[in-house]
Amino acid sequence: MSNIVCSHVDKSYGSINVISDFNLDVADREFIVFLGPSGCGKSTLLRMIAGLEEISGGTVSIGGTAVNDLEPRDRGVAMVFQNYALYPHMTIYDNIAFGLKRMKVPKEQIDARIKAVSATLGLEPYLARKPTELSGGQQQRVAIARAMIKTPKVFLFDEPLSNLDAKLRHHMRVEIARLHQKLQTTTIYVTHDQLEAMTLADRIVLMKGGAIEQVGSPAEIYEKPRTLFVAGFIGTPNMNFIDATVNRAEDGWLLRTDGADLRIRGHGFALTHGKEVVLGIRPPDLVPADGGEGNVLTGVADLIEFHGNDALVTFKFGGKEIGALVKASGCPAAGDRVAFRFDETRLHIFDKGDGLTLRC
Ligand SMILES: Nc1ncnc2c1ncn2[C@@H]1O[C@H](COP(=O)(O)OP(=O)(O)OP(=O)(O)O)[C@@H](O)[C@H]1O
Ligand SMILES: [Mg+2]
Repeated sequence: MSNIVCSHVDKSYGSINVISDFNLDVADREFIVFLGPSGCGKSTLLRMIAGLEEISGGTVSIGGTAVNDLEPRDRGVAMVFQNYALYPHMTIYDNIAFGLKRMKVPKEQIDARIKAVSATLGLEPYLARKPTELSGGQQQRVAIARAMIKTPKVFLFDEPLSNLDAKLRHHMRVEIARLHQKLQTTTIYVTHDQLEAMTLADRIVLMKGGAIEQVGSPAEIYEKPRTLFVAGFIGTPNMNFIDATVNRAEDGWLLRTDGADLRIRGHGFALTHGKEVVLGIRPPDLVPADGGEGNVLTGVADLIEFHGNDALVTFKFGGKEIGALVKASGCPAAGDRVAFRFDETRLHIFDKGDGLTLRC
């Protein structure tokens, strides 16, 4: 068993509180991603779990044992950092072997383990080389090998791919996903890259200002963001937000916005007459309206961003820039009048006051 439980975890530096009452159960074998903007406390939490940072309050348990007072080496965790810091004067073999040598593991055992790990990570051809003779992605694999060789109960990754270029990042992301499928080691992975989070995580822990905004599967977080912050953070291109006032109507609700009055049935939302809300619509949920029924946003296209298969059409609606993601073939040109329809089931509604979803 190597589940991780964070219970009422706090962290303060002097009088500055950076993590407050953090609670999370990570299941055995789960792949958890801590996601959030810079400074929200992701690394601090990971370092507390690893034992590199003192825990100010609460308990961290790994495999059922409280580890607050255990040295990092006694926690059964292996951590991979952004700056993988390989020893430049040592061969790849010696870099990978370093931790085990220090633990006085017999030579033959080290050799067998290195063979197995380098086969898993495709590092066999490079074992005699020095780190400078490897590409960034290969060096990152060595850093992972160095962590793997300790057969840890838990892997902790802190932005391990952020030094790599986009293509290599994608490649390594796939490799990390494969590695997890194979080894099934409980993993916490820190990133501020939502694409990395969406593609790797069983569950994402989305953080803001040292606290959890939402925990859920990538699909849950994308489909049912709990707050305006989550809605704005997840999804590319960004969700469109439109201020509205809720009015009771005969067979549902009328949403008054600066650009148009929208009619919805409102099933699944806790709406009240007169409430100030923010509507959220994702760009791919706006589809060209060629007449017909439904809620339509109209305007003049002022920018077309070509993405390949798709194009992002930006237009002004009620004084706000709105983006609609459409098929690139036959998409409008700048200056064209455009009209986009959305389906009520794709609509998000948030309380303008506290930013919480009104979905019930
Ligand atoms: N030694 C310290 N003393 C005081 N404050 C600190 C210290 N270390 C970190 N902090 C503060 O704790 C907060 C969380 O930092 P942390 O490094 O965990 O953020 P992060 O989410 O990992 O950000 P990034 O994405 O930029 O790496 C930040 O506001 C930071 O300024
Ligand atoms: Mg960090």
